[in-house]
Amino acid sequence: MRLRLLLLPCLLLLAACQPGDRPDQGAELAALQAEIAKLKSDLAAASAPPELGQQMLELQIRHARLWQAGESRNWMLAQFQLAELRESLNGVVELNGEHPSLQPQQLSTVLPAIMNPALSQMQAAVDARDGAAFDASYDAVSKACTDCHASADHGFLVIERPRTPVLDNLRAAP
Ligand code: HEC
Repeated sequence: MRLRLLLLPCLLLLAACQPGDRPDQGAELAALQAEIAKLKSDLAAASAPPELGQQMLELQIRHARLWQAGESRNWMLAQFQLAELRESLNGVVELNGEHPSLQPQQLSTVLPAIMNPALSQMQAAVDARDGAAFDASYDAVSKACTDCHASADHGFLVIERPRTPVLDNLRAAP
């Protein structure tokens, strides 16, 4: 009984909202549609991959930090920086694996193919705590970076040993 009493005003309310009853309904609908469209585009923007150039700036920093660690023969720090560099490279593959810069080639295929041999060489040098091997493999890593730039028509982006630390508030000395 109580439920029926409650239902009645609801039904009346529904009846009052029949299409065509309110002249401003079209405008309201259009406003709602516009709002949904905006929400959709906000959502798309929020889930868009980071710009490749942005990810490259991160690679540049990681690459430089690896040098500071290895040049100081600080092997713990070098292990850490190498792992971070690898993680950043994986991030590029994950989030920009189909970036147009390398089309018709797939970035997700080209990046590991170019980088992995040099990274393995570097890993072996750091594991062996071998300074000379570190220096040589560092140049191999830098060349791999530059080679990929060349395959993306960006051969003018030449990666090499840094001469000065990017940031000098992280101690490199062991
Ligand atoms: C998959 C190929 C590829 C690899 C591997 C690669 N890069 Fe890049 N890099 C690019 C492309 C493409 C651009 C140009 C991005 C753009 O147009 O914004 C670029 C741009 C850059 C830039 C310029 C960024 C700027 O906005 O000034 C730097 C610095 C850079 N890369 C560093 C590196 C370093 C360091 C490595 C190696 C650890 C590396 N890249 C490996 C493809 C690559």
